[in-house]
Parts: sequence; C-alpha cells; structure tokens
Amino acid sequence: QRNPVSKLLLFGATGDLSRRMLLPSLYGLHADGLLPHGLTITGSARSDMDDAGFRDLANKALDEFLPADRKNEGALKSFLERLVFQAVDLSDPSTFKPLADKIGDVSGGLAIYLSTAPSLFESAVKGLESVGLAGDTVRIALEKPLGYDLASSRHINDTVATVFPETRIFRIDHYLGKETVQNILALRFGNSFFEPVWNARGIDNIQITIAEKVGLEERAGYYDGAGALRDMVANHILQLVALVAMEPPAHFDKDAVRDEKAKVFRSLRLIAPEETPNVTVTGQYSSGASGGEIVKSYTDELGKPSNTETFVAIKAHVDNWRWQGVPFYLRTGKRMASRQSEIAIQFKPVPHSMFQGRGGLLQPNVLVIRLQPEEYVQMLVMAKEPGLDREGIRLREVPLNLSMDAEFAGSRRRIAYERLLLDLIEGDQTLFVRRDEVEAQWTWIDAIRAGWDANGTKPKSYASGTWGPSAAIALTERDGVTWQDD
Ligand code: BG6
Repeated sequence: QRNPVSKLLLFGATGDLSRRMLLPSLYGLHADGLLPHGLTITGSARSDMDDAGFRDLANKALDEFLPADRKNEGALKSFLERLVFQAVDLSDPSTFKPLADKIGDVSGGLAIYLSTAPSLFESAVKGLESVGLAGDTVRIALEKPLGYDLASSRHINDTVATVFPETRIFRIDHYLGKETVQNILALRFGNSFFEPVWNARGIDNIQITIAEKVGLEERAGYYDGAGALRDMVANHILQLVALVAMEPPAHFDKDAVRDEKAKVFRSLRLIAPEETPNVTVTGQYSSGASGGEIVKSYTDELGKPSNTETFVAIKAHVDNWRWQGVPFYLRTGKRMASRQSEIAIQFKPVPHSMFQGRGGLLQPNVLVIRLQPEEYVQMLVMAKEPGLDREGIRLREVPLNLSMDAEFAGSRRRIAYERLLLDLIEGDQTLFVRRDEVEAQWTWIDAIRAGWDANGTKPKSYASGTWGPSAAIALTERDGVTWQDD
C-alpha cells in the first residue's frame, strides 16, 4: 500500500552525503519519471543560501557525481525547478518557524531525511514538532550512525519516539538499497534448489567480506570515534548476515521481512570477554602501496596516535536449529588489497569421493555472491577436464556464472539510495531497519567491545594494500578454512 508524499525535506542538504548520493539519486528518480508529479524538495542546512544557490549547488553535485551520459538538459531543468532552500540551525528552535512557512501545507504528506549528526536529532525532532511538521502525514528517515552502543542508540530511539511512532520512522542502512543485496532474497526465496541445503547439513561455513581500498577520507572526526566494528559490522555486515541466515518470510512486506531478520539478530551468540582473543581480530593500517601509490598510515592521516581499528574479522555463530555449528566468518577493512564485497557460502564436501587420488582433491562447492565492484553470482563446481587421461577422469573447479552486469546490460546501475529514497517517499518500510533490529545488533556489538576492553586489545598493524593482519588468516585456517580471496 504505497502512499506517496508531496513534499520532501532534506536536512544536511549541502553536506557530503547529499551531494554525492542523495541529490544524484533524486535526479535519477526524477529523470525516470518515478517521483510524484509536483513533489517539491526543500533543502536545509545551517549555512544560508537562497533557492538559486541551492539549485546551483545541486547542479554542480550532479556534474561531479553523476556519469556525464546520465545528464539530460530537459530533465535537469525540471529537476532543479523542484528544489528550494531554507536555512535552519537545528540547535536553535526559533529557526524552525521560517522552515514551516517555507514548506507550507503538509496535508499531502511530507518525508523528512535527517542526514545530520545524531547529537542534533533531539533538537531536530522537537523543533519539527513545535512547528507542526511531525503530524500523521509526516515520516522521517534517519541516517547512521544511530548511536555508538546500545545505550546511546536507545537514547536516540527514545528521543525520536517521543515525536514519531515507529510506523513513521525509516532507519537507513544503505546496503539494503543495493540491488545485489536484495538479490540475496531473490536467489534464496525465488528458487527451490538452494533451500534444502541452506542449513548446517549442507553448508560448512559462510564468509562475508566488505573490503575497501579507501582510507580515512575526510571523516577523521567521526571515524576515529567509531572504528570498523561500529562503522561497518554493526549495520551493513550484520544486515547481510540476517539476509543470508533468516527463515523464509511469508510475505515481502515490512513486518514479515523484519520479523525474520530480528530473529537472526537475537540468535547471534554473544561473544564472552574471554573468547574475544580467539574469535576476533582487529587491525589498523600502516603505510603501504595501494592502487599503485604509496599511502600513509592511519595515524599519519589522522595526525595523532590512535587505537581505533580499521580492520576487524570475527568468527560468529547464529545459535538456532538451522545454523548450529556453522561459522560465519566476517571481515571488513579499509586500505585492503582490493575493493571487494562478497558473500561466499561454502558447502560441505561430498561424503565419499570416487575420484580420490585420480585428479587431485575435490574442492567443496562455493556460492559466491559478489556485491561490488562487479555484480555477479557464481557457483563453483567440480567438472571434468577434457582429455583421455589413462589414470581416470580429472576434475577441476569451474564457475557457473551469472553476471548481473551482462545479463541485465540494458538496465542502468542504480545508486542504493534511489531505492531507499523512493521507498521513503512512497512509505514502504520493508528495506528500512526496525528499532528492535538495531538494538539486538548493538547488544552483540557491545559484548565484543566489552571483551576488547577487558583484555586491553589493541589493533595489530597491517600494511596498506594487503588483506589485513596475518591473525585474520589464522582465524579461519585454524578451522581448516581459507578465505575466498581473488
Ligand atoms: C558507510 C561507512 O556506511 O559505508 C563508510 O560509514 C564506508 O566508512 C561505506 O566507506 C561503504 O559503502 P559502499 O556502498 O561504498 O560499500
């Protein structure tokens, strides 16, 4: 039951996320005729500018962040006409009145996107309420970070809940907007042959990697207080775990899908403090070569000493019937050897091999779901090498390939935020994170951090341009498992 709004309000409209992602996404939706006719987009930020200034900023952002062949003069003109601007200082309640005047009547629905520091959420929602911008027709989207632990996340959630009910809160995890991430659901629940083996009887281990080549970028203030565990695992990686591990929802709707994800989060085995040295590895990048250039260490980029982890690997377990005994190896890091996000599902070996000793060891089947930079699904299977070998038949691991890029070459790649902004505008919460999910995620994350604190864990140094500290390799090798690298 889609219920489009007629107005959109972007807080943080002049910021980095807005310029890189939100404005280009809105343009994409507009150019494809997907935005409601007459939808106005009000940008807001602390610095003052007029409507023309904001249109100019948006135009420049599109030049910078949209592929040149995507800009079409006609669509651009009508897109910019949708944009207006009103300055607001979220910490100053008196500045909300002019905003309410600018926005005017919200009976046709208003969607608000809060892309600002969470420390401003409280004054933002109170300010909105005080000027009548929080009623039944208004919904609000919240960008991460939604806290840095369970207590702070509860505080944010409680604060927002004093003004907006859960049915009108849209918590963003941009990974849920990615086509390849939604494709996990399509593969699992749109095909019959995975499900019978999708459990501890069929699967040996699951690996989830989000490796990035970038370093700190310009986010020192935020990142050094967060670290890889909070920045990537607490949200994106755990969402991937949930989509891989969840039971089949009965419907593709906000309640059915989120109920099943929340059950996975509640089934995550809490890691005891004495266990963290055995099942977690943290690292921090030192200088090294990345993309053909020499890059600085994390602390040199930061300009001060720091114990923040830029890499983390974890052996996790989902304690329920389906996944008993199946390790979930999770890792993410900055300044890694390549940019690569993927899920590798390694199946159990065959129970008996008649090929043993004749053509080498059999490799277990692996289903690789590559999320980025390429988008593909690959099933690694054993096949016969052509030939008339007298020793018997010779086997080799070969991929069964589904390249999304090639198969769907006619459809353009969308920014993850296009899906999420459209769903926000139309009021579909399925791909947004519910409060109980966030809180269960933090409960698990906080236990790990408590273990690190209790053990005085410091990140191990790893050279930029590598796959992280060697201890991360040992984490899986100890179990006889090798990371599925390129
Ligand atoms: C963000 C993190 O949520 O996700 C960043 O804060 C990270 O540190 C980014 O770089 C990765 O997103 P993507 O879509 O490029 O994989």
